Amino acid sequence: MYFDVFTLFPEVFPAYLETSILKRAKENDLLEVHLHDIRDWATDKHHTTDDTPYGGGGGMVMKPEPIFSAVQEILDIPPICPLVLLTPQGETFTQQKALAFSKLPRLALICGRYEGFDERIREHLVTEEISIGDYVLSGGELPALIVIEATTRLVPGALGDPDGASDDSFSSGLLEYPQYTRPPVFQGWKVPEVLQSGDHAVINRWRRNQSLLHTLQKRPDLLLKIDLTDADLKVLEQVVYESEIPGSDSIKKIIKQRKE
Ligand code: ADE
Repeated sequence: MYFDVFTLFPEVFPAYLETSILKRAKENDLLEVHLHDIRDWATDKHHTTDDTPYGGGGGMVMKPEPIFSAVQEILDIPPICPLVLLTPQGETFTQQKALAFSKLPRLALICGRYEGFDERIREHLVTEEISIGDYVLSGGELPALIVIEATTRLVPGALGDPDGASDDSFSSGLLEYPQYTRPPVFQGWKVPEVLQSGDHAVINRWRRNQSLLHTLQKRPDLLLKIDLTDADLKVLEQVVYESEIPGSDSIKKIIKQRKE
């Protein structure tokens, strides 16, 4: 997977890209990240990349010319690959989006700074806008690293363990089941016996049930988005009708619908 990143702060990327999974993905030719300093395309004496907003008001706005010139030179206009603007106004980044990105050969990201972008960048240059969540950061560099990391983990071969990504929270649409390692008893707290039974069918069902229950307790909204088996519905039904869990009304509705 090949990323182009347009940024005013290329120096913040290497430490993270040279660590752990991303480093290994690069070494195994599964990842290439090309950093482009937007300032290199600012043509005035001071290499200006921002300016005051028309109409007044506080803050500075990223100028269109350096960004258009950088994209023109690196990707052409219209760009040869999807070109993502990182902004709190974008579509929220999800595991599904990361999976869709991981199937692309190339993806380009534009990181903003200051109070925003000249609107013509949105309207006439980028192909989509992505937000990593409903909060405002000072720039798109951390969001870009998040997109690169979440996407690269899903490129086949990037994780040593072939099941590594498929067990993650969200990949099945559910939160991950609880994990334990040695010792079997720590400060009096025991590892559930079922995990030490060696019976993989029983362990798998226990894990699925735990995922369902954790999701019901912490993120019931996720249960509305996935296909549930009859066995799943049975487990949820037991819990939902026995205890008052926030959001359980909508799960009750789903269970009712599925039974009809
Ligand atoms: N730039 C600043 N805040 C951001 C956010 N939440 N997501 C993506 N890019 C951003």
